[in-house]
Amino acid sequence: MAVLVTGGAGYIGSHTVVALHESGRRVVVVDDFSNSSPAAVDALQRLVGGSLVFAPVDVTDPDAVDRLFVDHDIDAVIHFAAFKAVAESTEQPLRYYRNNLDATVTVTEAMVAHGVRRMVFSSSATVYGEPERVPVDETFPTGATNPYGWTKFVGEQILRDASAAHGLDVVLLRYFNPVGAHPSGEIGEDPAGIPNNLVPYVMQVAVGRLDHLRVFGGDYDTHDGTAIRDYIHVVDLAEGHVAALDALDAGLTGCEVVNLGTGVGSTVLEVVEAAGRAVGHAIPYEIVDRRPGDVERIWADVRRAESVLGWRATRGLDEMLADHWRWQRTHPQGYATPAPVA
Ligand code: NAD
Ligand code: WQD
Repeated sequence: MAVLVTGGAGYIGSHTVVALHESGRRVVVVDDFSNSSPAAVDALQRLVGGSLVFAPVDVTDPDAVDRLFVDHDIDAVIHFAAFKAVAESTEQPLRYYRNNLDATVTVTEAMVAHGVRRMVFSSSATVYGEPERVPVDETFPTGATNPYGWTKFVGEQILRDASAAHGLDVVLLRYFNPVGAHPSGEIGEDPAGIPNNLVPYVMQVAVGRLDHLRVFGGDYDTHDGTAIRDYIHVVDLAEGHVAALDALDAGLTGCEVVNLGTGVGSTVLEVVEAAGRAVGHAIPYEIVDRRPGDVERIWADVRRAESVLGWRATRGLDEMLADHWRWQRTHPQGYATPAPVA
């Protein structure tokens, strides 16, 4: 039996594929490369000894998805495939709703048609918006402030309803802020264009692709005036998916929602300082206005992850930045970096 990983060439998916392989599972990866590179699949094959089955499939295509279930002995799905850029989603809302919701419905319909019951879904802490207090637990009110966030909010609801009606067993994972890379330096985050997210931006400053970081807001009510997030190592996050599958294999039923974070908040300036330690020199920055839509502070209550999945994050901020830097230093242009001459 195999696990189908949609969006498995992407940042979080690729790291999860390695963790699944390490757990002894067979993996079928699909991706349409709309936000990733075939070079990621090549790197994955090197890391897992060529054991991957890969299919270039757009998971909004019902016939192509159906064929995956016919051709492979799939008994669980981890569904990463989605567009994820918040600002872009406000400019192209229909493209986001079409892709993210169609993909979820199409994959879930195929699971029902083929009697596959287990699903792990990529949700996001974005559904909490600006929380009334921290840490946030899974019972906090949810909603969204942009089309991307609504696709996660509605994606969760689609799976709750499908679970109730069709007996699917689902874990909705709400990720906090994934950063870092596999310690091999072979796979990592490779955003197209100018990065939106903090750590990819900092790392492109560190390799000289960008001049300096703009810190969005120095007047928040936090100890250094910058906003607080719960940054989580992508390998911890990947292992959280394996723990979710293990819990489903061990009999977890229904639809569970679980935060994947560390339970520790860090300010933007703390991240910039940790990046400076990893890189070996200070990261130049200026403080500018707040970014519209940003929340002041958020970090996860991690107790449900511990009790339901038996999982907790173990890697700290310095390890996240050191691993992210190893990837970026050896791949200054991401997967487009030419291989070194032997
Ligand atoms: P990513 O863009 O690196 O990976 C997503 C992958 O899905 C890409 O390889 C893309 O090519 C693929 N894809 C998109 N639409 C597809 C389709 N229709 N068919 C086949 N493949 C398709 O993003 P990521 O950071 O790895 O995020 C993975 C998931 O986690 C997404 O659902 C995202 O919304 C969610 N998430 C990400 C973060 C984050 O900060 N990175 C936080 C919370 C949730
Ligand atoms: C982190 C902090 C910024 C860039 C986003 C999505 C969320 C989720 C994860 C998918 C904030 C500050 C950033 C920069 C900065 N994605 N910052 N200068 O906003 O917490 O979450 O990614 O689900 O939905 O909203 O992450 O990395 O963009 O920002 O000062 O150039 O860094 O203001 O305080 P965010 P981020």
